[in-house]
Parts: sequence; structure tokens; C-alpha cells
Amino acid sequence: MSPSSNYQLFSLVSILLLITVDQSSQSQATQENGVKVGVFLSPAFVLEPGSVSNKFYYNIGFPKGHIAIKSFDAEVVDEAGNSVPLYETYLHHWVVSRYFNRKGVEVAKYHYDLGYDQSDSIIKSNSGICGGVLNTVYFGVGPETRKTIIYIPDPYRIEVGNPVEVPPRYEEKRMLNLHAIDTRGAEDRLGCTECRCDLYNVTKDENNRDIEPDYIGGSRCCYNGTRCKVKDGFQGSKRNLYLKYTVKYIDWDASIVPVNIYLLDITDTWKKQEKSNATVARHHCKIKYLVESCAASVANVDCTHTKKISTIFPSGGDLIYGVAHQHIGGTGMALHGEEGHVICSSLPIYGKGKEPGYEAGYIVGMSSFYPRPGSIKISEGETITLLSNYSNDQRQTGVLGLFYLLVAEPSPKPNSILHSADGTGAIVIMQNVIGALEVFGIALLVGAAVIYQRRNKRDQEGY
Ligand SMILES: *[C@@H]1O[C@H](CO)[C@@H](O)[C@H](O)[C@H]1NC(C)=O
Ligand SMILES: *[C@@H]1O[C@H](CO)[C@@H](O)[C@H](O)[C@H]1NC(C)=O
Ligand SMILES: *[C@@H]1O[C@H](CO)[C@@H](O)[C@H](O)[C@H]1NC(C)=O
Ligand SMILES: *[C@@H]1O[C@H](CO)[C@@H](O)[C@H](O)[C@H]1NC(C)=O
Repeated sequence: MSPSSNYQLFSLVSILLLITVDQSSQSQATQENGVKVGVFLSPAFVLEPGSVSNKFYYNIGFPKGHIAIKSFDAEVVDEAGNSVPLYETYLHHWVVSRYFNRKGVEVAKYHYDLGYDQSDSIIKSNSGICGGVLNTVYFGVGPETRKTIIYIPDPYRIEVGNPVEVPPRYEEKRMLNLHAIDTRGAEDRLGCTECRCDLYNVTKDENNRDIEPDYIGGSRCCYNGTRCKVKDGFQGSKRNLYLKYTVKYIDWDASIVPVNIYLLDITDTWKKQEKSNATVARHHCKIKYLVESCAASVANVDCTHTKKISTIFPSGGDLIYGVAHQHIGGTGMALHGEEGHVICSSLPIYGKGKEPGYEAGYIVGMSSFYPRPGSIKISEGETITLLSNYSNDQRQTGVLGLFYLLVAEPSPKPNSILHSADGTGAIVIMQNVIGALEVFGIALLVGAAVIYQRRNKRDQEGY
């Protein structure tokens, strides 16, 4: 790193520090919306035109202690702290995972095929259901991060850092896997982002295994250190980039209801298996799939490729939040319940401009779904159907369809009185108050209204 870039980084870090200090010194505002904000930078990754960086960063910066996370936002920035557009640096994916590391031992290196060294570093899985790398996702996953809204209404939160979950002599840490592709000057930008093997000029994958001729594109062709084809004579600087991530959280307290994280995959080919007299599902998720061009099929007039799977949801609860993840070409995903009703759907937002967060042709956000808590339930063992649509005007390799869900254990007593209210965190508080009302009579109604209003104001000011 040059002295000047060091200086720029230093300035950026100081600015971030200032922001943090500033926020905590504005105790009024912090108290009022009750939410702490932590802004962090990943270690630098270095890219030049065509190059690929795919790395795991261990022990990344994170709020300390037992906390309840309300949102997690991320984006790629340069040394000056400016947002970097997707047509320059395509954020293929980013995933934040939790792990427990044996105290005093350097972490075992993660490897897709070998997994973790279980004795020194234990991954804290989400609630499923695929297994493998998808089970490590706590926060993520793709380039659409700038306009994807995470909103977890009160009293629900993602719980992190609970000391009772940590095995003795271990400590909780977080890691980041970030895969980015520099497409400045690329001969075929979309092809580079899809990891089309011909553009990367590779015949062997990262593990030195031959890439079969029918494997046209996917992560095996764009691993760390590979290079996508750049136009002849294109000049572009080598530069340091960072994932800047913002965590909004509060300290844990007993009134918070934790949510479980599930990640469903449209490529899941699961099988029922009998195990100790119980039927269990064995999942096999390939993550990537191929969308054939509709030119090949006369039947498909509107050129929409629909992939559909059914699977069994392992445990029941209230759906609190849902969002899908698709690649360019995606036109939406939906989750249906056993009776065919739509539980949740999520549609891509395509950019139409030049500025970061609205880059033309890219998915810059996915619409997220947060029903009024308690209004949408998934039952234990329910057969759910997942659907992923892609436009197949042209053939596309390495696309995916993931669905990220936050599910809370069912609330003991759903309250039908509130069904007409709007879906903010205020309702949950009111549910409790109204529950009390039923017991203590109408005198509490005034108090409830006041809490409702204050609560409402709080939520609006915070977001
Ligand atoms: C592709 O790879 C081969 C062998 O690794 C190399 O000889 C060739 O120059 C590469 N082609 C391009 C266009 O980079
Ligand atoms: C990733 O690739 C870069 C550039 O080729 C190289 O310097 C770095 O050591 C690689 N890192 C890993 C973890 O393979
Ligand atoms: C499975 O069911 C059979 C017959 O009902 C019973 O005899 C056996 O003990 C059960 N095994 C287990 C592991 O529960
Ligand atoms: C997916 O495509 C099918 C067929 O065109 C359509 O009926 C369905 O509504 C679409 N679903 C979503 C979530 O886009």
C-alpha cells in the first residue's frame, strides 16, 4: 500500500470512528430510538481489471457482547469511503457467519470441501435446512445488498453472542466470506459475473480437478486469483476495496424474542429417510443451476423459466421476515404453503442508472416481506413449495434461487383484535397490553394508546 493510500485509509477509519463516537455522544438520539449503530470495514481486498478475490476473513469487527440485531447492511467501498458501483466491482456474494474458536488457538482455515477443523473452530449453524455452506449464513448474500431492506419488527431480533451457547474454553467470533469480481473493461460483463468458464480460460478448478466440458459456468471457474477476459489495451488501476457493514442492534434483554434463520434453496433435491422410526429429510442443495434459452422450446411463449420444488419445513413458527436472492435475469421468487397459498414472495429491483445502488441492468435490491407478526405461520412438517422465475430470453449459467427466512417460535396467544392495524413493531407491544386489558379492564386502554403512539414514533425515528 502506498503512503498516500495508507493515509486515506487512516482518514476513512478516523471518519468511521468519529461517526461511532458521534452517535454514542448523541445520547439523546440513541436513547430515543434505543438502537446502537456499529459501522465496520472488512480487511482490504485488492482488485484490478478482470481479477477475482474470494477469501475468508476470520475474527472480523463486530459489536461486543450478547446482542439483538435489528439490521445488517453492507456495501463495497474504496479507500476514500466512496461506494463502488457493481459494474466496476461485482459483489458475487458475501456471507457473515458465526463460529466458536478455541481460546488461544489460531482458527482452522475453512475449505468448501474439507469443512472446518471441528476441534478448534466450530461453526454456529443457522436453522437450516440445506446443510453445507448455506447453513453457515447468518447475514448475506449478494450484490443486491444496497436496496434490500432488512426490517425486523419489535420484539423480534437475531440473537448473537449469547454466552450460554459458547462451549467452555471457546469464544464466539464472526467471519466473512467475500467473493468479488472486478469487471472494469471486461469484454463481457454479464459473462464475468456469471463466471462463464470460457471467459476465465480455466480448465481446472481451485482443487485442481478437471472442469468437465459440460460445466459452462459457475463458481468453479471464478475462484480466487482467476481472471476474466478484459478488452485489449484496457487500463485500470489496482485498488484496495473494503466491505463496509453497518449493524443496528441493542443489548439483549428478556423481552426480546429471538428469530431462527432459514435459507431455502431452489436446487434442493431432498429425500425422506427413516431414522430411528422418524422420517427425516436428507437435503442436497447444489445452489447453482442452469437456465436454458427459451428459443429451444416453442411451448414457452413468455420466456419465463420457472423452477419449483417442494420440501418439508422442519419446525413451525411465525414468519417474521423473508427475502429472496437471485442473479441477473431473475424475475421473482415465491414460497407457497401446503394449501397452495402464497406465504411470501420477493421480487428483484433492477437498476436503471449509473450511481451505486441503481446500476442499470443489475439487481440492486430484492423486495423483502415482513408480515404483521403472528399473521403468517408455517407449521412443523408443513410441505412448502418454493418457486424461482428467470427470464430465459438467453441461456444463463450459474444462476440461483435462495430464500432467506426469519421465523420465530409461535407466539403462545395470537390476538385477533389487532388484525386491522398496520404492520409495525408497535402492534406487538399492543398485543401484550391488550392481553393485560382483557384481565384488568378498560382503564388500561389509555395507557395502551400512549405506549402505542410512543412506540410508533420511536420506530419511525429510528428508520
Ligand atoms: C489461456 O490459458 C492457457 C494455458 O493456461 C494460456 O497458454 C493462454 O495464453 C491463455 N489464454 C488467454 C487468452 O489468456
Ligand atoms: C487470492 O488471490 C490473490 C491474487 O492472486 C493471492 O495473492 C492470494 O494469496 C489468494 N488468496 C487465497 C486465500 O488463495
Ligand atoms: C421403532 O418401532 C418399533 C415398532 O414400533 C419398536 O419396537 C422400536 O423399539 C422402535 N425403535 C426406536 C429406535 O424407537
Ligand atoms: C412465476 O412465473 C409464473 C409463470 O409465468 C407466474 O405464474 C408466477 O406468478 C411467477 N411468480 C413470481 C413470484 O414471479
